[in-house]
Amino acid sequence: MSTSDSKHTQTLATLGVSSAEQVHSLFAELRSQFDAAARSATDENSWKALRDAWFGRRSGVLTLVTDNWLKPSSPELKRAVGASLNELRTHVDGRIETRRIAIEAGAEAATNARDRMDLSLPGVIRPIGTHHLIRQVFEEIEDIFFSIGFSVVEGPEIETPYYNFEALNIPEHHPVRDDMDTFYLELPKGVPGPLLLRTHTSPVQIHTMEKRQPPVRVIVPGKVYRRDNPDATHSFMFHQIEGLAVDADITFCDFTGTIDYFVKQFFGESVKTRFRPSYFPFTEPSVEFDASCIFCGGSGTAKTGGTCGKCKGAGWIELFGAGMVDPAVYGFVNYDPKKVSGFAFGIGIDRLAMLKYGIDDIQVFFQNDVRFLRQFP
Ligand code: DAH
Repeated sequence: MSTSDSKHTQTLATLGVSSAEQVHSLFAELRSQFDAAARSATDENSWKALRDAWFGRRSGVLTLVTDNWLKPSSPELKRAVGASLNELRTHVDGRIETRRIAIEAGAEAATNARDRMDLSLPGVIRPIGTHHLIRQVFEEIEDIFFSIGFSVVEGPEIETPYYNFEALNIPEHHPVRDDMDTFYLELPKGVPGPLLLRTHTSPVQIHTMEKRQPPVRVIVPGKVYRRDNPDATHSFMFHQIEGLAVDADITFCDFTGTIDYFVKQFFGESVKTRFRPSYFPFTEPSVEFDASCIFCGGSGTAKTGGTCGKCKGAGWIELFGAGMVDPAVYGFVNYDPKKVSGFAFGIGIDRLAMLKYGIDDIQVFFQNDVRFLRQFP
């Protein structure tokens, strides 16, 4: 505040003020000075300066007015000065507070404006992942079986030997158990066992038949585990889809027709199928299905001349095992083997994916190298 304005640094006597009217106009002048100053307090700093200039304990305007006008005033004027000073103090106090509120709200509005989302801006495009090839092949196969009336069921990956072996007609000392190189779980004391990681999805055949009466038409996608050393065609965990169809009058023709339909849908109409006798404890008869080699068209000769490296000249590629459900299995689930018949199959998904997509090392499925994964968007 300039010196010419600073009447409050002088006493009333010095200013020549001797009547109540003069006191009032003096205060009115001061009040309009304050109002002007308050108007220019538009941010936090100028607001603080205003507050200090008027309320400062030592040299704030209100202190100086008290010291220079009120205290030394003549007894006749004291009442008028006191009343005007109170009025001014209330006014200044109120305005300073309303300025504070206004400034804070303004700052908030500015922050809001800064943070406001502009929906017209182009979005941030984040790369979206894709399903792993194994998952894609699961879905492809599931869709084919959905189209002929199968539905999906799932089962536990930790099994009892009863479900993994016995109920599938594999008794304790059966040599097939050795082939499965099984992981048994180390259990805490008191936990009933033994338990193992399922070696195939076939135990879900048993779970399903225990729960449902024929007709049964299910497929079972899932992970299976074997104590295999990793190489280009082996992994300690891999994937299967089990299939099971049981009804009153299912024949061997229904069985081979279903598999042939599936293989043609999956590999293409021109692919032929054949089956060879095989052995599984839970199917009788058991077969191994082959497809005509999808690389050389079944000729056994590579496009470049020479012998086809994929089928080694045979013209056929082994696909998966299957068979008619062994009547002994029905005994474990209280189905009447005289009244029902059916077929089952167990497809190795990793193997089928490798064949269809020309992959020669099963390990790439588990290495999570994006350069591989990106090839199957
Ligand atoms: N469970 C067998 C395995 O993992 C595969 C299999 C073969 C399943 C024949 C079947 C079947 O349902 O009928 O080696």
